[in-house]
Amino acid sequence: MTLHSRPQPRPGILDISPYVPGKSGPKGAKIHKLSSNESPFGASAMAVAAYKAAGDRLELYPDGSATLLRSAIASRYGLMAENIVCGAGSDELLQMLAHAYLGPGDEAIYSQYGFLVYPIAIQSSGATPVVAPETDYLADVDAILARVTGKTRMVFLANPNNPTGRYLPFSEVRRLHAGLPAGVLLVLDAAYAEYVRRNDYEAGIELVATTSNVVMTRTFSKIYGLAALRLGWAYCPAHVADVLNRVRGPFNISGPAIAAGAAAMADQDFVEGAIAHNDVWLDWLSTELTRLGLEVTPSVGNFVLVHFPADEARNAHAADSYLQAHGFVVRRMDAYGLRGALRISVGSQEANQGLVGCLKAFMS
Ligand SMILES: Cc1ncc(COP(=O)(O)O)c(C=O)c1O
Repeated sequence: MTLHSRPQPRPGILDISPYVPGKSGPKGAKIHKLSSNESPFGASAMAVAAYKAAGDRLELYPDGSATLLRSAIASRYGLMAENIVCGAGSDELLQMLAHAYLGPGDEAIYSQYGFLVYPIAIQSSGATPVVAPETDYLADVDAILARVTGKTRMVFLANPNNPTGRYLPFSEVRRLHAGLPAGVLLVLDAAYAEYVRRNDYEAGIELVATTSNVVMTRTFSKIYGLAALRLGWAYCPAHVADVLNRVRGPFNISGPAIAAGAAAMADQDFVEGAIAHNDVWLDWLSTELTRLGLEVTPSVGNFVLVHFPADEARNAHAADSYLQAHGFVVRRMDAYGLRGALRISVGSQEANQGLVGCLKAFMS
C-alpha cells in the first residue's frame, strides 16, 4: 500500500479543469451583467412571493420528493410526475447522470463547443471524454456517431448549445438517436428551449416518452430567472428516474426553491413576456453587431457568440477589457478554445443599446 502525506482524490480528478463562471463585475458600480445568460426580466412576481412565504418555515426539511414542483411541471407539459426528477440546477442532474452511468473505462461523447460542464461531469466519474468536432459551430451528428465505440455509455448534446447558440433540427436529433446503440444514454440538455422560435425544433419530450435511452434536462435558471435558487429538472424513462432517485441527496431541492419553482411554472404569462423581449433584442443585437463588422454566430438562445478581429487593438480580449471598463460584463471564451470570441447575453433594452454603443466606439 502506498503511504501518502495527505488524502488523495481518485485518479483523474486533478486533471479536471475547473468550470470558469461568468464574472460579476465591480461591486457598487452600475454594471450590466451579460456574462451568464441570466434573465434581464428577473423572476415572476408570483415566484418571488412564494419564495418569501417559504421563508416562514425554514426550520422544516423540504418535501424530499419535491411533489408540488414535479406536479406543476407535469401539468404544464402533460407529463407523468413519476418521470420527472428535480436537481439543484440542471448542473446537478448532469453530474448525477454521469456518476450513475459512467465509470473508469467508459467513454462519453460531447461536441467540440459543447457546454463545459459535460467534460467535468464525465471526468469526475472516472470516464473518458471524447470530443466530436463541430461544423460551423454546430454539433455534427455524423462526427458524433463516428466516435461511438464499444466503450461509449453516454452522449451529451446541448440543444440549443451554449456558447454557440446554434441548434440541431429535430430530424437530426432523431438521426443521432437512431444511430446510437440501445445501451447508450442520450442526454438532451434543453436549458434554452423556451427561447427557440423555430418550427423544426423540439426539446426532446417525445423522444424521451417513446424510447428508453433518452433524458431531457431543463432549467429554471434562464427564462424563469431563478438562477440563484439552483433549480432544474429532468424528464426521464422510468428506469432512469429510478436510478436518479437512488443517487440524489434525499433533500436536494430546498423548500423555497420548490415553492418558487412551482409558482414560476404556473405563471406562463411571465414566460411569454420574456420570450417576446428576447425575440426583439436577439435580432436587434445580432443585426447591430454584424453592422459593426463583427461576425455573429446565428443564435436561437438568449445570447450571441461574437467573433472579433485578430489584431491586438480590436481582438476579443481588448474588447472584453474595454467593455468591462464601461460597465458591461461579458464572457470570455478561452475555456472553450474560442479565444477570438466573446459571448454576450441578451440584456435589458438599456443594456443592449449601451453595449452596442460601447462596441461601436471600441471598433472605431
Ligand atoms: C447548456 C446549459 N446546460 C445547463 C446549464 C446549467 O444550468 P443550471 O445548472 O443553472 O440549471 C447551463 C447554464 O449556463 C447551460 O448553458
